[in-house]
Amino acid sequence: MTLDDLKLEASTCTGCALSERRTNVVFGEGDPQSPLVLIGEGPGETEDKMGRPFVGRAGQLLDKAINEAGLQRSQLYITNTVKCRAADWSTGKPVNRAPVEAEVQACRRWLEPQVALLKPKVILCIGAPSAKNLIKKNFQITKERGIYFPCEFARTAIATLHPSYILRQMNISGDGGYSLLVADITRAWEAAQKLAKQSHD
Ligand code: URA
Repeated sequence: MTLDDLKLEASTCTGCALSERRTNVVFGEGDPQSPLVLIGEGPGETEDKMGRPFVGRAGQLLDKAINEAGLQRSQLYITNTVKCRAADWSTGKPVNRAPVEAEVQACRRWLEPQVALLKPKVILCIGAPSAKNLIKKNFQITKERGIYFPCEFARTAIATLHPSYILRQMNISGDGGYSLLVADITRAWEAAQKLAKQSHD
């Protein structure tokens, strides 16, 4: 099974109710050989339309932070724990919502083989829901971001603030934690490079 085979299979998934309203399955993109994989929560409206992860407002801030960390987005692989947009349709107009536990669990059938094929040295969890899913259930993002943790899917995992959270915080005061996002990407890349080099030596 290759990553492309898995992506093709995922594109017709009906494993949970999110499949009923989605436009596109947002499988993930980037360099499959990258030692660093970024994993967010799930696609929003723009991602659902485009079929690509992190391409809306939050994605633009993430791109800026990646560049500020001295990297290009194409050097990384970017995906989400849940591959279809979660939205509340009760008012007729979809409003993004966090995926529920059953949706997160249903989507493990894609995330687990995907990460097993990517074999990253480091996983950078973007936001608390991703860290709770991949590092530990009781992960506390403000206290535990930027710290290396053991992870069953990579040599180590580290979590950072979600760019959507940073955008909301920016409206309240200062940089909203943006400098921490840049610092965590930098740190995660340094660790990934170091581990990749060790395995080649
Ligand atoms: N937020 C996420 O967690 N993932 C995306 O792809 C976009 C926004």
